Order: sequence, then structure tokens, then C-alpha cells
Amino acid sequence: MDEGKIKVVIIDDSVDTVENVKTLLGLCDRQIEVVGTAFGGKEGIKLCQKVKPDIVLIDINMPDMDGLTATNILTASMPDLGVIIMSVQSENEYLKKAMFFGAREYLVKPFSADELISAIIQTYEIQNKKKHTLKVINQVVQTKVITVFSTKGGVGKTTIATNLAVALARNTKKRVCLLDLDLQFGDVAVMMNLSVKNTIYDLVRDLNNMDSDLVNDYLCTHFSGVSVLPAPLKPEYAEFIDSRHIERILALLNGHFHYVIIDLPATFQEVVLTSLDNSEKILVVSTLDLPAIKNIRVGLNLMENLRYKDKIQVILNKVNEQYGVNCSEFEETVGYPIFVNIPEDNNTVITSANKGIPFVMSRVDTRVARSIIGLADKIHTNNLEPVTEKRTLWKILQF
Ligand SMILES: Nc1ncnc2c1ncn2[C@@H]1O[C@H](COP(=O)(O)OP(=O)(O)OP(=O)(O)O)[C@@H](O)[C@H]1O
Ligand SMILES: [Mg+2]
Repeated sequence: MDEGKIKVVIIDDSVDTVENVKTLLGLCDRQIEVVGTAFGGKEGIKLCQKVKPDIVLIDINMPDMDGLTATNILTASMPDLGVIIMSVQSENEYLKKAMFFGAREYLVKPFSADELISAIIQTYEIQNKKKHTLKVINQVVQTKVITVFSTKGGVGKTTIATNLAVALARNTKKRVCLLDLDLQFGDVAVMMNLSVKNTIYDLVRDLNNMDSDLVNDYLCTHFSGVSVLPAPLKPEYAEFIDSRHIERILALLNGHFHYVIIDLPATFQEVVLTSLDNSEKILVVSTLDLPAIKNIRVGLNLMENLRYKDKIQVILNKVNEQYGVNCSEFEETVGYPIFVNIPEDNNTVITSANKGIPFVMSRVDTRVARSIIGLADKIHTNNLEPVTEKRTLWKILQF
């Protein structure tokens, strides 16, 4: 069998037709090779399973199994195969049936060498394109955008976003991109000790000539495998970046990364709202001190008014029971269950930030690292069910 040729099987109960078709194909200087012939549907199916042709030429009326039933079985079991029906029936009804059963072409007997050859070549090319498209579609992944947000500054958004991105990349082996959309004071690059070549400012400047392959050149790769788009190097560059840019960047990343994690500042500015709009889940971070709890409650109210409620998961960071407010009191006050508790661990968190190595890599055995690895697990196993609000008594705060 010649690998470069279009491999054809002929299935027809008429020996004359089989011989004629062979002769017609012999007239073709294009690379077509008859790799087998069969005289009935069942025999034809067995032959195709064995020789795996590119194209099958098949008659409709055959004694053991008719050509339409055989076509149905062939196209269902060998999706790359192109089936061409050869029949004396020229009625539309047959043609429709043939197409319904998965045939690509319909040749009415008698046909010329040209008709036969162009039907084979066309079918082969269409099948090839289909194969290629399927391959491309398979490479495209479903992207989940997850935002780490809080209405209170300094609660640990960046710490969580960076460690979560790394935990997802390492533990799930998925493609993860981390966007630093704290455009004025973003510190993801510092926390991950990245040498920054390009930032979101450079990407936005070149956005008109961008496609989803080129965007990769603007991302820094952290040694954990996470791709990072750092915030601008100077706070004043932030004003050049607006919500349309963020939407376009997210569209470019869509399909390439399994997870896009966004780190945000603690304000409701335009870019933040666009990020929240485009997120599948919003991880709202709080700590257990009263000013933070009050602030988060107000922020959650506003987010509910903006219809983000179903996306929200509340994360409690720097948990230390000695602070006097316990977790169930917190849940009652903010009206949401705690999705994940992250303990306070100054030593681990600050040392890792200063060294620029996320603690989910360097201090895997600490409780703080394990809690973020658990968060990554929960997100990955699709455990992010919408929460039902638990708004109840305002036990701690009296507004
Ligand atoms: N679980 C934790 N235990 C101890 N310290 C923590 C913990 N999480 C964060 N921190 C510390 O809290 C400080 C603020 O953290 P981080 O920068 O991640 O917060 P942020 O919400 O991103 O702040 P900003 O609003 O300024 O962007 C840092 O010094 C960090 O080391
Ligand atoms: Mg931050």
C-alpha cells in the first residue's frame, strides 16, 4: 500500500461495476489506489475495518446488507472515512437518505471517470479538513476566569492569587495564566520574583496587531509553569488601560488557558467591574477583624446589587482564633459560608514573599500552603456550586 495515495475500497455486488470502477480509477493520474473490493455490505464493513481506507465507493442494493445500512455503520464507527454512494436510483429521496446515513457524495450510475475522480478527491479533501478542524478544536480548552477580590486592602488578595495560580498549575498540570490587574500598585511580579520584560501596558499598546498566539510573547513564565501578565511598571500607566482592553485581553487568552486568575485592587473601578463581569467565580477575601468584616459586608451588598451573588465564594484569610471573632459568627454576619479558611502564618507568608517563591512550592507542609492547595483542588474539582445566602442576624455589627 502506498502511504501517499488516497486509499479506496469498492463495495458492489456487481463484478462488472467493480471492474469498471477499477478501470476508471486506473485512468486517473492523481494518486488513487484501490486497496480492496467486496461484494456485499457485511463483507465490505469487515474489509474497511481491516484496511482503513480513506474513501468507500458503495452500491445501495446488495443482497446481504444494503449500502445505506452499511454506510450508517461505517460512518458511525470510522468518522474519518468518506463514503460515496453509487446507485442507479437518481431520486432525491435516495440521495437524502444517503446523506442522512452519513454519505458525502452520491454518484448516479453510469458515471464518467471525471465525475468519479472529482467526487473522490472532493470527499477526501473535505474529510481531511474535518480531521484538521477536529484536531484544532480539541486543542482549545475551556477557560475558567477566577477573580480574587476584596473591598478591603491588605487582606491577602495577591498572596492568595499567586499561590492559587501556582497550586493549580502544579497540582492539576493545567495551563494557568495570572493577570495582575492591580494596575497602579500591582506586586505579583515581585511576589513571584519575575524578571519583567513586558507588562500589560506593552500588551495594550500593541493590542491592535495582536492575535491569540502573539499574546504569549507578552507573558512572563514563572518556573512553576504559570504564565503571568504583570501590572505596569509605573502607576501613571494605569490610566491608559480601560475596560475594553481587559475584555480584549481576556478574549485573547480564552481557549488557551484552563484557568485565568485575576488579582485586583480593593476598589470598584471600571477595570475591576469588567473583570468581575467576565469571571466565572469571584473569591472575596476577608480577614477576621471588625473593620474588614464591616467593609466586606458592605462590599458584598454592592456586589449583590450588581448581580454577582451566584459567583461569590468567601475566603477567610489570616485566621487566628485568638482574635475573638469566630468563623461561625463571621458567616452569620457576612451572610455567606466560608469557602476556605486560610490560617495566619507570618513566618511562612512573609518569608516566601521576600524570597519571591510562592509558599505552595517552598513550604508545602505548612497549614497555610495546604489550605491554598485545598482551594485549588476545590476549584479544579468543580466544587464551586453557587452558594445560598445565609444572611441572618447582624450579631457583631449594628448598622
Ligand atoms: N495567611 C497569611 N498569614 C500571614 N500574613 C499574611 C497572610 N496572607 C497575607 N499576609 C500578609 O498580609 C500582607 C498583605 O498581603 P497581600 O499583599 O497579599 O494583600 P492584598 O490584599 O493583595 O493587598 P493590597 O490591597 O495592597 O493589594 C502581606 O504582608 C502578606 O505577607
Ligand atoms: Mg495586592
